[in-house]
Amino acid sequence: MSTEIRVKRVTTRDVRARKGGDPVVVLTAYTTPVARLLDPHVDVLLVGDSLGMVLYGMETTLGVTLDMMIAHGKAVMRGTERACVVVDMPFGTYQESREQAFRNAARVMTETGCAAVKLEGGREMADTIAFLVERGVPVMAHVGLKPQSVHAAGGFRAQGRIHDEAAAIRADARAVCEAGAFSVVVEGTVEPVARALTTEIAIPTIGIGASPACDGQVLVTEDVLGLFSDFTPKFVKRYADLSPLISQAAADYAAEVKARAFPGPEHCFGVPKPPKAV
Ligand code: KIV
Repeated sequence: MSTEIRVKRVTTRDVRARKGGDPVVVLTAYTTPVARLLDPHVDVLLVGDSLGMVLYGMETTLGVTLDMMIAHGKAVMRGTERACVVVDMPFGTYQESREQAFRNAARVMTETGCAAVKLEGGREMADTIAFLVERGVPVMAHVGLKPQSVHAAGGFRAQGRIHDEAAAIRADARAVCEAGAFSVVVEGTVEPVARALTTEIAIPTIGIGASPACDGQVLVTEDVLGLFSDFTPKFVKRYADLSPLISQAAADYAAEVKARAFPGPEHCFGVPKPPKAV
């Protein structure tokens, strides 16, 4: 009989049930080793399409493909046993029709084994979200600042400062909730709007640059660790600065290779051991 104890994975239902309770902890992950390190500490690991900018050096997320998301989704699933893994649907893979959205979401779910997909959009995506949810695809929605619409929005800027914009974000949040999303990311949204919509809807709001009024928080892990320095949004808190450590390690390695100090005898095969002293 096996004595292996399996950890119970957090489900989308567990996340949904956290509305108004303990804050939901979310980080991004794109690779197996990082997912393994984060898994014990988070409720949700998001395989975000931010990987286009953070890992691949793209200027926006628009060039990310479904195959990239599936490859990274599989990698994160291999590194986790506890977290609820959610994979982002990239730009152009769900906006055309609800059928297109289902076909691509089904690929993501079956090929990665993740628990849910995330897609950007509010009222305009409500019909698609309902279609997916009715067919067994749990959906995390994403309102406020929507990076896939960066060109239409005229850049990355905080949302909800003007009355019409605030009303639109609140209506978007209500629409995705009514459509059956189990939670919603609220990005780059001013505090009063994030606070208002959090009280108005029945599903957890996961804030990023949207104040502590949200039911949970998400950050991009590379921002948290100081591994992405192209730009640092106001809402990022850096909990560690790993970049200098990595640079220093690379410099030390290079110096030791050049000085023939690495590899040492302990890293080599077939080196005779020195005779034991008697
Ligand atoms: O792509 C991503 O990582 C995201 C988070 C920033 C919410 O959507």
